Amino acid sequence: MCGIIGYTGKNNAVPYLLQGLHKLEYRGYDSAGIALIDESGISVIKRKGKVSVLEEAVTEGFSATTGIGHTRWATHGEPSQLNAHPHLSENGMFAVVHNGIIENCDKIKSDLRKDGYSFLSDTDTEVISQLLEKNYKGDPLACLKETAASLEGSFAVAVIHRDFPGTILCAKKSSPLIVARGEEGFFVFSDTLAAQNRISSYYLLSDGELALVTKDKADFFSEDGKPISKVPHYISSSTASSDKGDFPHYMLKEIYEQPKALKDTLSAYIKDGDVIFPNFNPTEKELKAIDRIHLVACGSAYHAALCAKYIFTQLSSLDTSAHIASEFRYEKTVLSKNSLVVIISQSGETADSLAALLLAKAEGAKTLAIVNVKNSAIALKADYVIYTQAGAEISVATTKAYICQLAVLYMLAYFISDKTEYIHSRFFPDILSLPRLAEKELSQNENALSAAELLKNSEHIYFIGRNTDYALSMEGALKMKEISYIHCEAYPAGELKHGTISLIEKGTPVIAVCLREDIFKKTLSAIKEVKARGAYVIAITTDKLKSNLTDCDFVIASGSEQSDIFTPFVGAVPLQLMSYYTALKRGCDIDKPRNLAKSVTVE
Ligand code: G6P
Repeated sequence: MCGIIGYTGKNNAVPYLLQGLHKLEYRGYDSAGIALIDESGISVIKRKGKVSVLEEAVTEGFSATTGIGHTRWATHGEPSQLNAHPHLSENGMFAVVHNGIIENCDKIKSDLRKDGYSFLSDTDTEVISQLLEKNYKGDPLACLKETAASLEGSFAVAVIHRDFPGTILCAKKSSPLIVARGEEGFFVFSDTLAAQNRISSYYLLSDGELALVTKDKADFFSEDGKPISKVPHYISSSTASSDKGDFPHYMLKEIYEQPKALKDTLSAYIKDGDVIFPNFNPTEKELKAIDRIHLVACGSAYHAALCAKYIFTQLSSLDTSAHIASEFRYEKTVLSKNSLVVIISQSGETADSLAALLLAKAEGAKTLAIVNVKNSAIALKADYVIYTQAGAEISVATTKAYICQLAVLYMLAYFISDKTEYIHSRFFPDILSLPRLAEKELSQNENALSAAELLKNSEHIYFIGRNTDYALSMEGALKMKEISYIHCEAYPAGELKHGTISLIEKGTPVIAVCLREDIFKKTLSAIKEVKARGAYVIAITTDKLKSNLTDCDFVIASGSEQSDIFTPFVGAVPLQLMSYYTALKRGCDIDKPRNLAKSVTVE
């Protein structure tokens, strides 16, 4: 949430900052700005709107070789030019970009006001720039150390000082910040994507650490200001491309990348017919001691958890529950050393998921992270980690990372059931067919396009299903609402009649996910109930079951033959495509839906 970029080196900073901001736009895109510094001082340019709007405003004539930039997702203060970062201090001595939330901002603000400082914006960030100026006694690093110590909440900040052109100062707590070295200079950013292909190695700042970055080197300091040495990470040449290629949107590209992402994820952990997780290797005794599994996540990752809950219970008989991370924290769930808490997150930095992880650790539970972004906060803080191998995912609406989360959860369910000998699963060899199943479903493109034509003018859409079909309905509804802005709700098919069916009238669209043969008849009853009340039903099913669905108005049927357990992999693709084409026909900004950000680093 909010993207930070900084560059100091031998070249003009402007192209690096703008390119970096474009790459970071998935983190927020309501306003953007840059601050450049050279011998003549600090220049700030900022605009409301996307980075492209800022780009138009950055005219020729800037030659500074050091600068910082920011793309914002508003927390304090509306999206506006005034509230856009960077924020200058009272006398223009410091410029600051910030990602996170300063929880004691009101108190700091009122203290600063008493000292005569005034504020131009409604942001919490401006208190940082003003406090820096107040604390400054000639040493910018000492000043940042003192300032950071008085901030509560979460922050990743990059700071420049008028008298030190060529220097960027950084501080971090809870929000991500990375310092990287490249041929053309040093970078600081929220995500390595910001300068992909320009950097050779990078350093992850830990909470409390500070950095002083110049064009030749980066020095690191502990919270109390003592120099520390940090181990660099090296960029692997296999880092997935972050370009759209020939696709009109990242979302469509990422939908089409799913077969490969699944293949990479499965082949990373299935060796000689067995599941091996290099970073999840509890002893058999430890595994057998687990008496409860909690799957915890936000958004689509929660829907992967919900689906996996059914699979874990089916395969391992272990008591398994799925929790929304922001609720888990306050549910007072009973945890013990025999609980396994699995945190699922694409970004590995979602604030609620991270907080849930820390709570579980504090309660003595074992924690396992299923994460896509390497070395992200959740990956580093959990006891164990399993990485999904989806590659970089740029579209705010997740597709390939979600399906890879499902694949890892299935492997995990098998791994636990196999090792603990609860129920030895017979389904396992079929898991290797998942990439092929997903590939085949891409041929539903035309059907999804036709369904989108039927749905594009809807005000409301209801999604129904049972068991894993219900979990998939939840994901289908989220995908549709987040990118098309149509109000969607998902219900367990059997629950509809307990209230929501009163909303069904002539022409109300209902998407019935009925892929599972074992519960098909029950879902069919629900379909008949809504049909009887005039609903317009689109069924997502299989060739085998479709002959029972002659009442439905439109049917998307998969030709694959798979066991019920794998149907989520079959249904996910047409649901994603249907959302994509509905949003496209409605003229929505598919990769950057309004009000959203891909990585949510505030609670
Ligand atoms: C945001 C994204 C969702 C995502 C959720 C959890 O809300 O828009 O697509 O599912 O965060 O993100 P995570 O990175 O933890 O999987």
